[in-house]
Amino acid sequence: MRLRVKVKEHFGKKFDEEIRFFRGMMQGPKTVGSIVPTSSITAKRMASVIDMHSGLPVLELGPGTGAITKAILGRGVKPDNLVAIEYSTDFHQHLLRTYPGVHFINGDAFDLQTTLGAFADQTFDCVISCIPLLNFPMAMRVALLESLLDRLPAGRPVVQISYGAISPIAANPDRYHIQHFDFVMRNIPPAQLWIYRRG
Ligand SMILES: C[S@@+](CC[C@H](N)C(=O)[O-])C[C@H]1O[C@@H](n2cnc3c(N)ncnc32)[C@H](O)[C@@H]1O
Repeated sequence: MRLRVKVKEHFGKKFDEEIRFFRGMMQGPKTVGSIVPTSSITAKRMASVIDMHSGLPVLELGPGTGAITKAILGRGVKPDNLVAIEYSTDFHQHLLRTYPGVHFINGDAFDLQTTLGAFADQTFDCVISCIPLLNFPMAMRVALLESLLDRLPAGRPVVQISYGAISPIAANPDRYHIQHFDFVMRNIPPAQLWIYRRG
């Protein structure tokens, strides 16, 4: 009986998140950029890049309904050690309620220096990004990546989800190294994961 209640609660919560996501998608298809929340398998794979020994905070971009936030916290990152930038005010409000203690910032990741506010000069352990880069011009994608890499110790990763077969950020071997990290079938749509780092 208790199991049935738990199963019902789980699916009720999942359904709520999907509705919330769908509403966000209808309001801003270009900024949301996907049809359903990121799967827990993809989220865990992205969170696996965190170095739990660095002691540095993690920067998340585009947390949306919080699927990846949950995986980051699940790895043992303390809420106070996670900074996350979300453009949608609706998602931002939901995140504040769901994950207390995380530094959620309601703003534009492309305007990183301003949006980070008190964290503008912070060095992060890594960046975990769900920004739908393909919806933005290449020059903006490259500028964002450069600005993110400037905030990481050399060699630490920016991990980015994408749904196309090629890297959403053009190669520039003099500036950064690109690695195809994974292809996750169990995601709607199937997800490509990319890692960018300074040499
Ligand atoms: C594909 S969704 C991923 C959401 C999340 N991983 C999930 O599963 O719920 C992309 C997210 O990036 C956010 N986003 C898009 N452009 C942004 C920007 N410029 N700055 C910050 N967040 C942005 C959207 O609002 C959306 O929440």
